[in-house]
Amino acid sequence: MEMTKLRIAVFNMRPDEEEFFSIYGEQYHTELSVTNEPPTLCNLSVTEGCQAVSVITTPIGRELLDAWKAQGIQTISTRTVGYDHIDLAYAKEIGITVSNVSYTPHTVAEYTVMAMLMTIRKMKTILLRYQVQDYSLSQVRGRELGNMTVGVVGTGKIGEMVIRNLSGFGCRIFAFDPYEKESVKAFAQYTNLDTIWKECDMITFHTPALESTYHMVREETLNQMKQGVILINMARGAIMDTDALIKALESGKVAAAALDVIENEGKIYYKDYKYAVTGNHDMALLSTMPNVLMTPHTAFFTDEAVSDMIQYSIESCVAELKNEENPRRIL
Ligand code: COI
Repeated sequence: MEMTKLRIAVFNMRPDEEEFFSIYGEQYHTELSVTNEPPTLCNLSVTEGCQAVSVITTPIGRELLDAWKAQGIQTISTRTVGYDHIDLAYAKEIGITVSNVSYTPHTVAEYTVMAMLMTIRKMKTILLRYQVQDYSLSQVRGRELGNMTVGVVGTGKIGEMVIRNLSGFGCRIFAFDPYEKESVKAFAQYTNLDTIWKECDMITFHTPALESTYHMVREETLNQMKQGVILINMARGAIMDTDALIKALESGKVAAAALDVIENEGKIYYKDYKYAVTGNHDMALLSTMPNVLMTPHTAFFTDEAVSDMIQYSIESCVAELKNEENPRRIL
């Protein structure tokens, strides 16, 4: 007898995700209702007849949660590590469970080290100049990582992998996390944030967007940092007060930055704005700075990570709907 398949609504499905949804959808015996649109109150037809939803970073608030609840949605899986876009408290209140995924930490960790090296070797300028046949050496002399003190804020899976990757370069590594891990201590010295601000030549952030990490980089903390510090943010835009960062870049307090994320990127990244106006003044200004390397939230984007995101999102929905233990449940 054919069992009724569990139905999962999949939002924001990109063409590169299709092959994995097809593989894992079948493997976990699910039926998928897919759209490339973000979830809104205008596309409730996608969730009709489904019990679970898979989303990425679109904000999901009360109205949408209420509408989905009325349709019979029992669980939401965000196929991202971050879950700050979902109103968790309200989902809990109305009895919808929420889970996230974790994917190979190598993807963001490798990208972080790449961004660090590109930043200290002034690669943005070198590549731009090469395009116009300017092969001169002025302004492109770099620094070596082995002579630097690097601060890693957040030593979850990604932060720890960044530290492991960095350990081969011979730099001094300071780490901060409210939960210290024994496995990190072989490669880095845990310290407090004040010491990170004061001692480090380069600081990289690998923390979630929480109330406690909101604008962790702001005028007051920037003032404590070394003159000419380099900042790397591959985590969440909300960690940095963008206005304060811009001022610090303009004054030279911050010598360079690599930003894969920025405040208010939500409606812009992953779309083609070549012939359109983004209206994001900060992005426009920062992208003109030769010492600021900006990428559109692509640190996660590898074959391995995309496969993990989809497999674990479907697995998580199925576990919830079958009332099985789900290690990915946030609440
Ligand atoms: C996450 O997994 O939290 C990410 O930042 C990647 C995502 C926006 C696709």
